[in-house]
Amino acid sequence: MDQTTITRAFFGTSLAFHIIFATLAVGISFMILVSEIIYQRTKDKDYELMAKRWTKTFAILLGVGIPSGTIVAVQLTLLWPGFMKIVGQVISIPFQIEIFAFFLEALFMSIYVYAADRLSGKMRVLSVFFVCLGATASAALITSANTWMNTPAGFDMYADGTITNVNTWAAFFNPSYGWAAFHVSISAFMAGAFAIASVSAYRYLKTPTQERKVLVFHRKSLLVSLVVGFLMSAITGFSGHGSAQGLHEHSPEKLAAAEGLFETQRYAPLSIGGYTDPATHEVKYGIEIPYALSILAGNLPSTEVKGLFEFPEETWPPSYVHTLFNAMVGVGMLLLALSFIALVYWWFFYRKRKKAFPKWLVRLLVISGPLAMLGIEFGWIFSCSGRQPWTIYGYQRTTEAATRAAHVGDLFVLFGLLYLLLSVLVVVVMHVYFKRNPLTKELAKRGDIDAT
Ligand code: HEM
Repeated sequence: MDQTTITRAFFGTSLAFHIIFATLAVGISFMILVSEIIYQRTKDKDYELMAKRWTKTFAILLGVGIPSGTIVAVQLTLLWPGFMKIVGQVISIPFQIEIFAFFLEALFMSIYVYAADRLSGKMRVLSVFFVCLGATASAALITSANTWMNTPAGFDMYADGTITNVNTWAAFFNPSYGWAAFHVSISAFMAGAFAIASVSAYRYLKTPTQERKVLVFHRKSLLVSLVVGFLMSAITGFSGHGSAQGLHEHSPEKLAAAEGLFETQRYAPLSIGGYTDPATHEVKYGIEIPYALSILAGNLPSTEVKGLFEFPEETWPPSYVHTLFNAMVGVGMLLLALSFIALVYWWFFYRKRKKAFPKWLVRLLVISGPLAMLGIEFGWIFSCSGRQPWTIYGYQRTTEAATRAAHVGDLFVLFGLLYLLLSVLVVVVMHVYFKRNPLTKELAKRGDIDAT
C-alpha cells in the first residue's frame, strides 16, 4: 500500500470507530428526551425507568466517545498536515464552537444524572433537551467541515497555494451544509431509535411470559423506539433526497459514480443493486428504474444528469461508491419497511386483538440497530470516498494533504488494537453493569414485582 492509502485507511478506521459512539450519543440522548417527555405527560413510571437506564448506556458510550474523538482531532493534525494548513486559515470555526457544544452536553448531563430527583418535570425535560442539543450540535458542526471539503466556499486560492479573501461564515454555511447537517442529525436519531429497538426486541424474546411486568416494559420501549425509528427513517430518506439533489448541482461526478452513470443523459434511469464494472463502463446485475435518476436529481424526467465521461478519468471517484450508496439507501428502505410492518402489526393485531408480536418479526427487529449503524458507516464512507481523489474538492488532492512521516503503518496497527480493546471493554462494562442492575431489581425497588 502507498503512503496515502495507509494514511486514509488509518484515519478512516479511527473515524469509523468514533462515529459509532458519536452517533449513538446523539440518537440515545434523543430517545431519553422522548421517554422523559412521555413520562412527564403520562406519569407512567416505566418511561421514567427507560430514561434512567438509557442514561447509563449514554454515559458509558460517552466514556469512549470522548477519548476516541480526541484521538481523531489529534490525528487530523498529525496525518493531514497539508489539509490542516488550509483548514486553519478558512474553517477552524466549527472545531472551536464544538467545544461549547460539548460543554453544554456534559453540563446538563451532570445536572440530569445527579439532580433529576430534585428537579421539576419541566426542568428535567429541559436538561435532557440541552444534552441532546449539545450532542446534535457537535455532529452538525463537524458536518460543516466535511461538507466544506465536498463543496468548498468562503476563500480564494492563488496558484502557489496562498489563501486569500477568507469569509469564515460563507465557508461554514457552504452549499451542501444545510441538507447534510439535517441528514446527519436525523439519521443519528434513527440509529439511536433502532439501537434501543434492537435491545428491547432481544430482551422481549428472552423474557419468559410469566414475567408480565418485565415483558410490558420491553414492549413499551420497543414500541416507542419503533415509532421514532419509523418517523426518522422516513425523514432520513427525505433529507437524503435533498442531499442527492445537492450532488446533482455541486458534485455531479459523485452522483454519476453513485449511480454508475457514464453517458450524460435526460430521462436517466436509477440503477439499484449490482456493481459498477470500471472496465466495461456499466452497472452489472443492477435493476434499472426508468427516469428515476432524472426525477431524483431535478424532480423532472427530462432533467439532464451528467455522466462520468464529462470529466477527466483521473478525477473519477472509485467505482465501489455505487455499492456504498446502494447499501446506505437499502438500509434506510429496509428499516422503514420493517418498522412500518411492526407498527401495522401492533395496531391491528396487538392493540385490537391482543396478539403478541410474532417471533420472526421480533428476531428481525433485533438486527435493526446494527443495520442502522452500518447505514451510518456506509453514508460517511460514501461521502468521503465519493470525493476522491480530492480532500478539498477542486483545490487539494488527497496525496497533497497526507503526511509523509514514516511508521504510519505501525501506528495504524497499534491504534487498531486499541480500538479492538476499547470495543471489548465497552461490551464488558455494559454487560457487568446491567447484570448487576437488572430491570427486575429496579421494578422490585418500585414495588412492581416481588424482590425474591
Ligand atoms: C433512504 C435514502 C437515503 C438517501 C437518498 C441518502 C442520500 C445521501 C447522499 C446523497 C449522501 C451524500 C452527501 C454528500 O456526499 O454530499 C448521503 C450521506 C450520508 N448518509 Fe445518506 N441517504 C439515505 C439513507 C441514509 C441512511 C438510512 C443513513 C443512516 C442510517 C444515512 C446516513 C448518511 C450519512 C452518515 C452520510 C454522510 C454525511 C453526509 O455527507 O451527508 N443515509 N446520503
